[in-house]
Amino acid sequence: MTTTVHDLRAWKAAGRRFAMLTAYDFLTARILDRAGIKVLLVGDSLGQAVLGYDTTLPVTMDEMLHHTRAVARGAGDAMVIGDMPFMSYQASTEEALRNAGRFLKDAGAHAVKIEGPMFDLAATMTERGIPVMGHLGLTPQSFHAMGGYRVQGRSEEAAGRLFDHAVSLEKAGVFALVLEGIPMDLGAQISKALAIPTIGIGAGPDCDAQVLVITDLLGMDERPAPKFVQPYANLGQEIEQAVRSFAQDVEDGAYPDLEHSYR
Ligand code: KIV
Repeated sequence: MTTTVHDLRAWKAAGRRFAMLTAYDFLTARILDRAGIKVLLVGDSLGQAVLGYDTTLPVTMDEMLHHTRAVARGAGDAMVIGDMPFMSYQASTEEALRNAGRFLKDAGAHAVKIEGPMFDLAATMTERGIPVMGHLGLTPQSFHAMGGYRVQGRSEEAAGRLFDHAVSLEKAGVFALVLEGIPMDLGAQISKALAIPTIGIGAGPDCDAQVLVITDLLGMDERPAPKFVQPYANLGQEIEQAVRSFAQDVEDGAYPDLEHSYR
């Protein structure tokens, strides 16, 4: 049975913690589903993790839909969330609804994620039958407005504002809330106050769930990572080693051998 927004709410009520991961392609989605990951985010981190951009800002709707389709084909029973890219939902409600609809109608997503305190938009989308995940704190699409990637909600005033935004997003109907790059005490405070699950990434251990970018978890990206990243594998080095071995075998004439040749 596909994971639903009701499951997430029930898990929160039951105190069941869970992991969400980003995925950008079919094979990875299949592996994550097999590993028991119930919620897959096709994040606009696609920009840095896959497409080689410096930020998420250049990511387009077409790029997001292309990768969401691939993930949806491999996701099995996992819930697939499409991350709405920069300027696909900020300019007008009409455009936002149309773009959100494309994630569900054309790409096989079950929900969308939007960044920032977009209360009215979240309420309108929810009313129109589009499940919405919120995202507060360090919101990468506001990279320039924040003056870089900085921990948010450090001052009492900023923490209070973030807390209020979280409560308002819940009232607007979001089914879960990503909290990124905020002090752990604030993460705990918001998680305690909300009935919907909070999904932390650099928001401390007391969020109801945790998310990581899959290429960070697998140790594929040698670029400097934020403090919260914990790699669980070193695939970057393993891939490099495998490729070196292949190239060496080809150069030495050891591959292909008879076992890998047709008669
Ligand atoms: O784009 C993304 O991968 C995200 C997660 C880090 C939450 O928004």
